[in-house]
Amino acid sequence: MYILANWKNKLSSESSKRLAEGIYSRLVHQYLNIEIVIFPDDISLLGVKSILDSLSIVKIGAQDGPMDKTSSLTGSISASNLSKFCDYVLLGHSERRAILGETNEMVALKATEAIELGLVPVICVTKGNGTAFDPYSGIKAQLESIHDHIRRQGKYLIAYEPTDAIGTGISADTEEVKNTAETIRKMVSAIQGSSDIPVLYGGSVNAKNVSSFLSLEGIDGVLVGGESLTVDSFLKIVKKASDPQNLK
Ligand code: 13P
Repeated sequence: MYILANWKNKLSSESSKRLAEGIYSRLVHQYLNIEIVIFPDDISLLGVKSILDSLSIVKIGAQDGPMDKTSSLTGSISASNLSKFCDYVLLGHSERRAILGETNEMVALKATEAIELGLVPVICVTKGNGTAFDPYSGIKAQLESIHDHIRRQGKYLIAYEPTDAIGTGISADTEEVKNTAETIRKMVSAIQGSSDIPVLYGGSVNAKNVSSFLSLEGIDGVLVGGESLTVDSFLKIVKKASDPQNLK
């Protein structure tokens, strides 16, 4: 079970450290079935890592990664820093696809780099480019493009985040999430012969609705934005995730 916290660009480095300290002091160690991954902004990453480093169930991730490790790219985090300080990297978030024009190909290159650096990529997909005839065609294109680059490696995660659920307070319909997760698994299986890939849901997840997503067949975790920004709201989500009904 994965609980991922995407802090985006919402916190100062001081607030990030305070939040990490709060999580550190209040996280109880019985949450053995859960892997928590915190994605702070690049400036806060090191400070947050040093606070949470001794908690084995907490990992650290970067919110983006390089397309290749050798060419110069102003504004990019260095490959060596990424591999030294992170375990995970978030790729292809819909905000980056929409605002920065990140393409499937760019996400695929970043996923390849991430794997070569020993990181676990979390590849975000949306239905954005789907059509009325085939609402899943956008997701299919996003999944197909990554496959060639990463089929030889073992571990990556897919996060399904419908754009109209992100930051709106209106989460997606659970039936729709269940169907989409099932479709994602079928597509991954058709592409690479195995559907054994963790699929996560993200978009207005909170302590009240998290169980309705975690209990869905085919959903292995959640990617949380706004509600991961305070100790109370985030740890309530973690606590719910450890409910026996959500154990899979
Ligand atoms: P919210 O939980 O604030 O809707 O954000 C979701 C998200 O974008 C996580 O990556």
